[in-house]
Amino acid sequence: MKLFEPFQLGPLALPNRIVRSATYEKMTDEDGFVTDQLIRMYENLARGGAGLIITGNALVHATGRSVPQQICIHNDFYIPKLKQLAEAVHEAGGLVVLQLSHGGRQCFPSLLGQTPIAPSAVAEPSLKLTPRVMEHEEVWEMVNAFAAAARRAHQAGFDGVQIHAAHGYLVNEFLSPHTNRRDDYWGGDEERRFHFLEEIMVAIRQEAGDGFPVMVKLNASDAVNGGLEVEESVRIAQRLQSLDCCAVEVSGGMYESGQVTVKPGIKELADEAYFRTFGKHFKQAVQMPVMLVGGFRSRSLMEETLQAGDADLISLSRPLVREPNLPALMKEGKEKADCISCNACLRFFRIPYTHCVVLEKERKKTVQAKN
Ligand SMILES: Cc1cc2nc3c(=O)[nH]c(=O)nc-3n(C[C@H](O)[C@H](O)[C@H](O)COP(=O)(O)O)c2cc1C
Repeated sequence: MKLFEPFQLGPLALPNRIVRSATYEKMTDEDGFVTDQLIRMYENLARGGAGLIITGNALVHATGRSVPQQICIHNDFYIPKLKQLAEAVHEAGGLVVLQLSHGGRQCFPSLLGQTPIAPSAVAEPSLKLTPRVMEHEEVWEMVNAFAAAARRAHQAGFDGVQIHAAHGYLVNEFLSPHTNRRDDYWGGDEERRFHFLEEIMVAIRQEAGDGFPVMVKLNASDAVNGGLEVEESVRIAQRLQSLDCCAVEVSGGMYESGQVTVKPGIKELADEAYFRTFGKHFKQAVQMPVMLVGGFRSRSLMEETLQAGDADLISLSRPLVREPNLPALMKEGKEKADCISCNACLRFFRIPYTHCVVLEKERKKTVQAKN
């Protein structure tokens, strides 16, 4: 099967084509330092056989905290513990890329202790807030924050970084005509909206050096009126390709679009792979590898998507929350993931750490039945 054939992703030799898509863990301590629990979780994922692991959204600047207890990388003092995480994954036979993120206007003011920042003062209806507009100098500060974070990831031994430019967070907000209403170097038309991501790519190259893999997760569609749509998103990917981007991961949606990013209740084959047509668009337009995320549950559909040339790599998030060893199980013949896409693992503020709530309940029932 193509799914289990090796794949060369820039300098990285992946043993198969299954990627663990970035998944926030809520497993650092209160100050954002890596814990033993987090290391064990990543070791487990590595043993589970995914060809590449992308970490949850790591914080590049204190103004971008979107969730509690996320991995922090906005200061050098986080490096030693992050190094332990990368080493543990390598020892377990895996490859690990750190996702770099700034929450922009999708940060809870109560968590942040201040008004969230964004390219423009466009109200965010789900969090019921209007962000503060970033000053020109402040935009440069964030560019440098992404670059410094990439340098730290490199020093900590990660195999690359992925810039989170999807799901309505800060980088997406600069790219999107819905959230970027500026008329300066950072916005006004398509090319200027791209400047923030472009400057980040350039700055990362300078800070982390040539050869360090840099990937980008993009929204094919913001799924909101006046938002980014696939035609423009594909052109963004083409520009990224000329900036030495190593791979693009295709996703979609933002907070105000509802559950577009993480579609619930995937039961039938027809519910799966809900961004597949976008993957096809990207594959037709760029030569760099395309990762496709969103609702893959069946091995046969993963294989068919690869065979049809609609993606080079298949990314999974929720299925690996329930079964970290799903790639190994599928290699042995398992057809369908056990995940029922109930999205209980997404209730960040109600659960102590990211895990499969359904599986936990099932285990409790089994224990009760035994007693
Ligand atoms: C618990 C949870 C945490 C997530 N955290 C992130 C994240 O940190 N960064 C990111 O880009 N996407 C995040 N996502 C979105 C996933 O990467 C993925 O795009 C989405 O879940 C759809 O894929 P799936 O159907 O395989 O779950 C998260 C999803 C879940 C369920």
